[in-house]
Amino acid sequence: MSKIEIKLGDIPEGKNMTFKWRGKPLFVRHRTEKEIETEAAVNLSELRHPELDKDRVVKPKWVIVIGVCTHLGCVPIANAGDFGGYYCPCHGSHYDASGRIRKGPAPLNLEVPYYEFPDDNTVIVG
Ligand code: FES
Repeated sequence: MSKIEIKLGDIPEGKNMTFKWRGKPLFVRHRTEKEIETEAAVNLSELRHPELDKDRVVKPKWVIVIGVCTHLGCVPIANAGDFGGYYCPCHGSHYDASGRIRKGPAPLNLEVPYYEFPDDNTVIVG
């Protein structure tokens, strides 16, 4: 149960799917070209928890993060909030489409777990 295998072909572009992994929600997001461009262009100086998008993803198309708000642990909603990534309704934290905190009380970006792509259609997390 420590690893989960996900078939990427089941996740359409622009959608985020939630899986359960090690008792927590795991988000797998198939980003659009526009989201990829937008997140790649964000300057580190704009960020509370400065991380470049390229250091948070293995393949730009796929964002894989733990779906637990870094404020007090609620599960954010995908494709919502002022930055179009994730929005946590508990106290209003807004994350971008890289899972980085952009506004609201959460101190840190959504956590990126270890994962690898054994082939183009599969990711193994854990
Ligand atoms: Fe997400 Fe407080 S738990 S904003």
